[in-house]
Amino acid sequence: MLKLEDVFKTYENGTKALKGINLTIEDGEFVFVVGPSGSGKSTIIKMLSAEVRPTSGKVSVNGYDIGSIKQRDIPYLRRTVGVVFQDFRLIENKSVYENVAFVMRAVGTPQRLIKKRVMYVLDLVGVLHKARRKPCELSGGEQQRVAIARALVNNPDAIIADEPTGNLDPARSLELMMLLEKINSMGTTVVVVTHAREIVDQFAKRVVAIDGGMVVSDRTGGYYQRPDLTKITEEAVQQATVTARRRQTAAPERGVAVESQAEEIPTEEPRPVEEPTRETVFNIDDLLRFDGQENGGRA
Ligand SMILES: Nc1ncnc2c1ncn2[C@@H]1O[C@H](COP(=O)(O)OP(=O)(O)OP(=O)(O)O)[C@@H](O)[C@H]1O
Ligand SMILES: [Mg+2]
Repeated sequence: MLKLEDVFKTYENGTKALKGINLTIEDGEFVFVVGPSGSGKSTIIKMLSAEVRPTSGKVSVNGYDIGSIKQRDIPYLRRTVGVVFQDFRLIENKSVYENVAFVMRAVGTPQRLIKKRVMYVLDLVGVLHKARRKPCELSGGEQQRVAIARALVNNPDAIIADEPTGNLDPARSLELMMLLEKINSMGTTVVVVTHAREIVDQFAKRVVAIDGGMVVSDRTGGYYQRPDLTKITEEAVQQATVTARRRQTAAPERGVAVESQAEEIPTEEPRPVEEPTRETVFNIDDLLRFDGQENGGRA
């Protein structure tokens, strides 16, 4: 079980990355973690693997207390939770095989068991034929698979992937997510941090949204939502209208596109505030994407 209780993290430079996170992930769950850049997602992941320690609050990972875990116990903690980092972290001068095998050696697995297991996980993720290659000889998607194989090799209770589809095209992303689903169906807890909204929507799993270092929404069978828009309020609509008007006045050269979109924003009757559906989420997002056209948008 992964559990964060009232967790705060302030980095040395004073950045308050987490501001009171409460989150429990039970064994066997599949959870998406979403949220804007800088919201604290990777900080949570790094905490679950004891790379970062909480400033206050309690983090328990499969029975280990991250606040007080001894350095020498960290490899054993990491045996229970495999992490696929945002930047893979493969070792450049080692082969694919060695990249995966060394994490088994780190926890003292006998040599005779290593080969069999490494071959098995490389095969499971579909890169066994690249076993002798170096990471630089692989595509981004293949490197990602090696990182997953490495996270899996010690047969962890949980696997946590930070933005695993970041470098993949939509088809590959879907494939990778299906692989993670397969791993989950074999009993491993899976936590996936992602910006890939289509993927999140397609799988309809539990979705935890982080914003400003806090959990702002936690839904089972949810869709990807901009966390600040979990409630589609009259205020949000009006704010979008005001911004649209301001842009219209401030940047007339953006002309037609801005104007015609602004006309579509309802000013009289706010949208009903209901549980967001796929439709309402898309609509309100379209509305505010308009607000995000910082680079001149379609001008
Ligand atoms: N080592 C660090 N030292 C200081 N500040 C940090 C450090 N790592 C992250 N931060 C800051 O903490 C905040 C949360 O960062 P984090 O990496 O957790 O965000 P994220 O949600 O993973 O973002 P992204 O989607 O871009 O990966 C950000 O303001 C970031 O600048
Ligand atoms: Mg991150």
